[in-house]
Amino acid sequence: MTSDNGLRSAVVRAFEERHGGAPAWVARAPGRVNLIGEHTDYNDGFVLPMAIDRAVWIALRPRDDFKVRIHSLDFDETREFDLMHLASSGMEWMDYVQAVAWALQKRDRNLRGWEGVTAGDVPIGAGLSSSAAFELASARAFAALSGLQWDAREMALLAQRAENEWIGVYCGIMDQMISAAGESGHALLIDCRSLETRSVPVPPGTSVVILDTATRRGLVDSAYNDRRRHCEEAAAALDVAALRDVSRERFEMAAASLPPLIRKRARHVVTEIERTLEAADALERGDARRVGELMNQSHASLRDDFEVSRRELDVIVELAQAQGACYGARMTGAGFGGCAVALVQAEGAEAFAASVAADYQRATGLEPRVYVCSASEGASLERVPEAEHAAV
Ligand code: GLA
Repeated sequence: MTSDNGLRSAVVRAFEERHGGAPAWVARAPGRVNLIGEHTDYNDGFVLPMAIDRAVWIALRPRDDFKVRIHSLDFDETREFDLMHLASSGMEWMDYVQAVAWALQKRDRNLRGWEGVTAGDVPIGAGLSSSAAFELASARAFAALSGLQWDAREMALLAQRAENEWIGVYCGIMDQMISAAGESGHALLIDCRSLETRSVPVPPGTSVVILDTATRRGLVDSAYNDRRRHCEEAAAALDVAALRDVSRERFEMAAASLPPLIRKRARHVVTEIERTLEAADALERGDARRVGELMNQSHASLRDDFEVSRRELDVIVELAQAQGACYGARMTGAGFGGCAVALVQAEGAEAFAASVAADYQRATGLEPRVYVCSASEGASLERVPEAEHAAV
């Protein structure tokens, strides 16, 4: 099973206290960290994320009506909505559940109401995809009660649609796909055009460390949408459907004809796709050193060409890279704040984490959070055994 950091029992216990009986199901979906392949998903390119051992959990049981009623242990509040009358209430946690219900209904799925208790330990707004985790855990919950087959790819697309059209965040497919389809001990090379995946083991003797700068991204949506627009402009100028279709050679030949800003953006995407494919091969043969070099190059490209880093991310990445145990480090996720990721020697991982945290705090006055994390499986669902029902 997956590590639950005590959250599975927390939601089950809280469910029993509130409802006087055990839940029928426990749904879970993880956050993610992207090893490499940043801002490539909406260019139909490749990404190499892994699902992490931090997740959103929901304990639930069906209701006889069309209401969905959920208590959040994190926000200490209960929210409900009616499946027959979906209405966005703004940007609060329950919107993600409604968004998924809306997208499922758009696919003609008949949904049942349910009541549940939720809790999670994916930090919010840190760039570790807490919203995708919540969407996929909700999708698991609806699917369980309505007897829908779980198809990770279909559910990821559906959750992405929920996020794009209901929440109004115009993200790519990476976060939903890895939360739906992650594999324990592995990163997934995802082809964001075909949605084919190849699982790539995290090499033995290495650890993935998440370095949270304790900065949060502001104005990220407009900056993100600008970057998407620049990429679309570049693809149009190069007469291709998406930047995925441009090889490095072709880019170099055409680069001079592109406006400088568009050229920089496109150069990041074209080289990042190449780095991602190479990193997957290097990971597969256990060549952590090469993966690290590619991660370092990725950070430079995101900082200088795509311009989505910020000072604190650059500081933490440089401090990480300076450590002997570190193969490579880069910012991860959309950027503008949040987290970096490092690949390090497993035996030195705890010392690495402590040193970088101390150095960063000294340099910035901010207190970072550092997690050595492991690759976990994607969204899962567990039927609560009858014995647990009887025990209540
Ligand atoms: C966010 C989006 C993803 C992806 C990354 C950048 O996490 O949700 O779709 O575009 O930014 O790689």
